[in-house]
Amino acid sequence: MRLPASGFEFATPERIVFGPGVVSQSGALAATLGSTALLVTGRDLQRAEPVRASFRRAGLNWVEFAVMQEPSVSDAQAGTRQAWAAKADCVVACGGGAVVDAGKAIAALATHPGDPYRFLEIIGQGLPLENAPLPLLALPTTAGTGAEATRNAVLTSPEHFLKVSLRSPRMVPRVALIDPELALGLPTHLTACTGLDALTQLLEPWVGSKANGMTDACCREGLPRMARSLAKAIADGQDLEARTDLAYGAFLSGLALAHSGLGAVHGLAGPIGGRFSAPHGAVCAALLGPVWRANVETLRQTDPNHPTLERYRQAARWLTGHPQASINDGHRWIEESVQGWQIPHLAHHGILASDFPELIRAAQAASSMKGNPIRLSDEVLSQVLAEAH
Ligand SMILES: [Fe+2]
Repeated sequence: MRLPASGFEFATPERIVFGPGVVSQSGALAATLGSTALLVTGRDLQRAEPVRASFRRAGLNWVEFAVMQEPSVSDAQAGTRQAWAAKADCVVACGGGAVVDAGKAIAALATHPGDPYRFLEIIGQGLPLENAPLPLLALPTTAGTGAEATRNAVLTSPEHFLKVSLRSPRMVPRVALIDPELALGLPTHLTACTGLDALTQLLEPWVGSKANGMTDACCREGLPRMARSLAKAIADGQDLEARTDLAYGAFLSGLALAHSGLGAVHGLAGPIGGRFSAPHGAVCAALLGPVWRANVETLRQTDPNHPTLERYRQAARWLTGHPQASINDGHRWIEESVQGWQIPHLAHHGILASDFPELIRAAQAASSMKGNPIRLSDEVLSQVLAEAH
């Protein structure tokens, strides 16, 4: 496969520490970033207990900020005020994608007093950050968004019915500390939704129009691991080997999406997430099969020998684990998995067929849509939504 003529750029956390039990290093690692940390957690405060124990051993001072939902702009501002009040000089985010995103946004806003809308895409001016954010240590507890590897933080703006990004190459966490043990016992439904989000974030860059050699390497490594271990972790939440595959796959998915973009699944999931309170992973999972079918059919109609079809064939082999698998076998694997793991249809989130035109209009303008392997018409996107509904 040829490398892109335009070349590529690749940014990762400065330090990546991966493996069962590495959470015990969080205090010592955070102490290399600062002396007072803002610890950002999720609703389940217990989950961050190993981090607190490690902070105590390292003699680190800290204050805490809990995120109860996908963070809004005002949540990020509240966390920033807390960081200022404690004179925090570093941020540690321990939780799912929403918590890591909140930590990234707070770390960035903490060094930028004044109106945060200056830096927000779409609903603000989208100006580049002027200063380096506070150093951030990210500890993901779900294997989903890969936010520990990316350079943006997704924030909701309820008044605009949108999710928008605060984005800067400076927002890549300084340290990604990935401990698969933190996800042990994660409920089945959350494991399925977050895992299918990560799987989508490996599939979309793999077949996407902006793939490059480095992102291909991430997808080649990550897709087979996610596919073989997702069912195992769903069947047995304590399966550490499967959790390790998922944590690694999710991290690789973050690296892939940060550098080659996504596709129509995320193009549609963004506007849906902005308008409905629907978990991101569940929305992606519901759209995955319909978008696979739509992309393959559109590619075939355009050129029966389109090179991306070979990428779909390869993805089908990884998903099914069968070297002879066809593109249709890959599609069937997705449909059966999504059904077997009881991922709800879009209608479950309150989406109506009458919402489709507005969602399609927003999706066609979404940045993720530009990474899709081929342009999908409004009519095809409408069929996709109807299938997922
Ligand atoms: Fe995603």
